[in-house]
Amino acid sequence: MTGQTKQTVFSGVQPTGAMHLGGYLGAFRNWVALQDDDAYNVVYCIVDLHAMTVPYDPAEFHRARLETAKVVLALGIDPEKSLLYMQSQVPQHAELAWILSTLTPTGVLNRMTQYKDKLDKGIPSNLGLYSYPVLMAADILLFRADLVPVGDDQKQHLEMSRDLAARFNNRFGEVFPIPAPLIPETSARVMSLVDPAAKMSKSDPNPKNRVNLDDSPDVIRKKVKSAVTDSDPTVRYDTESKPGISNLLEIMSATTGRPIGDLAAEYETGGYGRFKEAVAEAIVAELAPIRAALQQLDDDDVARILQKGALDARTRAERLQQQVRDAVGLGRI
Ligand code: TRP
Repeated sequence: MTGQTKQTVFSGVQPTGAMHLGGYLGAFRNWVALQDDDAYNVVYCIVDLHAMTVPYDPAEFHRARLETAKVVLALGIDPEKSLLYMQSQVPQHAELAWILSTLTPTGVLNRMTQYKDKLDKGIPSNLGLYSYPVLMAADILLFRADLVPVGDDQKQHLEMSRDLAARFNNRFGEVFPIPAPLIPETSARVMSLVDPAAKMSKSDPNPKNRVNLDDSPDVIRKKVKSAVTDSDPTVRYDTESKPGISNLLEIMSATTGRPIGDLAAEYETGGYGRFKEAVAEAIVAELAPIRAALQQLDDDDVARILQKGALDARTRAERLQQQVRDAVGLGRI
């Protein structure tokens, strides 16, 4: 297949907090699959500018940016196959975001549920937080992406990116493809180990809610052992009355590739203790290669990979930048 006919896939991850099993099974494992699929040209961006829209500590943030890159590499993103870079190292993101902001009615931003949720959680409002979806649209459009792997929580943002692409094309001529969401068939929805009604999350202050990708086997076993379940000792898939057990079945199915029904039948009787041990071992086995890769990678290697990625990303972004500048009347004088 030639580069011309390949579809461009773009996705981003914020460098905030530890990366966990939920993100891996729900999204990042699919990033690797897409990278290995010849039909796609993939671009993965660590969106550090987005992460600055909520309060943060600069030294911790600096460390988290590198750590996130390291985990993304360890989980299988190969810089020979994927373009991987840090958003802040490609200034064209910010310029395109500005241009797109002039096409964004504030009424549209007022309706963004993520923005409203963040304010409800007490995150202080600021202009960057408000225009977050415009920067996200710029990320996607800067690489003329056709497909964007995103979770449910990002669908509204992606819809806005599509509207902005169409609005730009209408006003200034065809520049952007309209990006479509890519919802993976095999993504698992992993819930918190402490509160199975909520998604496993990196922002939950209780570290027991999640299994981090760099947790040691012992820590994984402890976390799974203390996962909240129920008092009826039958292993059965029933998200209504047995959300904790259903979540563990979901995780075990995603990590072993075995159907939930088979697992439920195998562990139905025999108690939760035995079942949880099996779940923990399945997670340990799934994460072992990631953990080993993490121990191999040193900071200098990661920094070098990011430098090279930024250079390539800038080269690609500059072409689009010129096209956009010409289209909107900011061409060379
Ligand atoms: N908003 C996304 C999230 O929190 C991260 C993101 C930023 C993104 N830019 C993107 C995802 C572009 C996909 C495409 O998950």
